[in-house]
Amino acid sequence: MLERIRAEVERIRREWEEAKGTVRSPEELERLRVRFLGRKGEVTVLFQFLKEVPGEQRAEAGRLINALKEGIQGELSRIRDELEATLREERLRREAFDLTLPGRWRPLGKLHPLTQVRLEIERIFMEMGFDVATGPEVETDYYNFEALNIPEDHPARDEWDSFYIDDTHLLRTHTSPVQIRVMKSRKPPVRIICPGRCYRRDTPDATHFPVFHQVELLWVERGLTMAHLKWIIEEFVRQFFGPGYEMRFSADYFPFTEPSAQVHIRRKGGPWLEIMGAGMVDPAVFEEVGYDPEEVTGFAFGLGIERMAMLKYGIDDIRLFFQNDLRFLEQF
Ligand code: DAH
Repeated sequence: MLERIRAEVERIRREWEEAKGTVRSPEELERLRVRFLGRKGEVTVLFQFLKEVPGEQRAEAGRLINALKEGIQGELSRIRDELEATLREERLRREAFDLTLPGRWRPLGKLHPLTQVRLEIERIFMEMGFDVATGPEVETDYYNFEALNIPEDHPARDEWDSFYIDDTHLLRTHTSPVQIRVMKSRKPPVRIICPGRCYRRDTPDATHFPVFHQVELLWVERGLTMAHLKWIIEEFVRQFFGPGYEMRFSADYFPFTEPSAQVHIRRKGGPWLEIMGAGMVDPAVFEEVGYDPEEVTGFAFGLGIERMAMLKYGIDDIRLFFQNDLRFLEQF
């Protein structure tokens, strides 16, 4: 009986040796395991013959079959490991990224150059301690003109040729009416800037457009002088443009400031461009909003955003800002 078992063990081992080389997948490996070690597998069945082996030979027969079983088990798990490693490598090769391929271009929107410039102006003044205030674009005649010391028959109204909506409402011609709205609603000290859209009946050309943007500034407090105004403007221009620009301060006239000034900027060597009107708030304006001109003084300016952008980026036609040509907008 022992000899028969030895022969069977040998036969099964040979079959195993032949079969194991053919395995290519985990499924095939599993089929092989069932064939040899499954419940009705060749090795398992062999154990059933142990009963028939005479007592003194049984231990030896058991050793033979066990050695066969353990041998096959060991090889099965080694083959499984190898198979898994190969499959993993294949998958990694298949899923590999080519990091040298150029990325896919995704168009990304950005802020309009005028918005970028406005935000930069706001940032500079906010760092100096100014609040941002806003007012309506459809204004009353009172806020846009009268409260600013520009009565109905004042010749200065010609300068702000306006779009009227009805007898008393118009599209604001500047951001100065926001000064009035703010002063009427707050006690001094007041330190604000007011960015916004303005409208004038101008024929479009390289430096005029019927809609444009301003930033108004107003500082009211005890003891403010023209020197403070000049310092604020100089500091702002220095921060906004950096080196390579020149500034010129000269006298002007506005009904709501006394004295009044205008500011020109140029790139060194380039033409001068007026960027703002400015001045010390006229006592008549303070009286109109209920401030005591003996108590407080103040200064203000109105700055053109388009002109700031034109100077900074070397743009020579204001109409470019409103045509929304992507070839222009993409450059900012
Ligand atoms: N509002 C004026 C304009 O649009 C500009 C201006 C001048 C604003 C003097 C001011 C100022 O605040 O003080 O022409």
